[in-house]
Amino acid sequence: MARVRALETERENPLFRDPLARAFAAAGGLWPASSPLPPDDEAARRRRLAVSWSIVIRTRFLDELLQQASASGIRQVVLLGAGMDSRAFRMDWPEGTRLFEVDTATPLDFKASVLRQERAVARCERITVAVDLRDDWPGALAAAGHDPAVPTVWIAEGLLIYLPEDAVELLLARIGARSAPGSRMGLTLGSRGVVERFGKDAAPGSAASLWVSEMPDDPVDWLAGHGWEADSRTLHECAAAYGRPFGTTPQSEGRPGGLISAIRR
Ligand SMILES: C[S@@+](CC[C@H](N)C(=O)[O-])C[C@H]1O[C@@H](n2cnc3c(N)ncnc32)[C@H](O)[C@@H]1O
Repeated sequence: MARVRALETERENPLFRDPLARAFAAAGGLWPASSPLPPDDEAARRRRLAVSWSIVIRTRFLDELLQQASASGIRQVVLLGAGMDSRAFRMDWPEGTRLFEVDTATPLDFKASVLRQERAVARCERITVAVDLRDDWPGALAAAGHDPAVPTVWIAEGLLIYLPEDAVELLLARIGARSAPGSRMGLTLGSRGVVERFGKDAAPGSAASLWVSEMPDDPVDWLAGHGWEADSRTLHECAAAYGRPFGTTPQSEGRPGGLISAIRR
């Protein structure tokens, strides 16, 4: 993820700038190059391009969702499965914003060491919560100071695809129980068929080899059942709006995606 965001940052007219991404990628041994592909493996090359493109589009989509949430008055942000998300450092936040980064200890420790090395300074109050999302993360979040009585904007970016369906349902129920009216949520969902298409040929240990869950047939209806008024866009729709279409070949149907923004009424 960091490598892709670093590459985007170096482009002319990037969809976002993530100045820390390069340091994260380098610290992980992923900069400048990614692992080589056999030169004749066109399908693998296109798969990799599609995944990189999807990361760029969804990053921009969620940046905008967060800006809109801030503009609506929300001052509490929770990044679930935060990983190397550097939004606390790279986005403008209104005064009084508290941003919680929830992930397990290993990635948060790795991140902390890079942040120290880069002397990075957060642009809001940043609170890390080291907990496994299969455990009592609501308890850990509450102990860290999250206030369920005021609205929160929740982000689960590149996370749900790694969780089995029952875990996704539990996560949504737990988020809902801590979302005051006016709360917002941004989710990325694996589109139908993506696990089969990308996961089955993925190299063992690679991210795609761990993909297990896809979005339901009707994500808007599914989220309504969880108490959210949701809007669902495809990556292609957002990419077209950002001037970054991926192409219109039949294979491009069913690329990873499913970008959800939702409001709690
Ligand atoms: C693909 S990364 C996405 C990171 C970040 N949201 C971003 O977009 O840059 C998935 C993240 O989810 C975290 N994650 C996966 N399963 C988790 C779990 N059970 N508990 C906590 N974090 C988890 C991983 O550690 C990883 O940082």
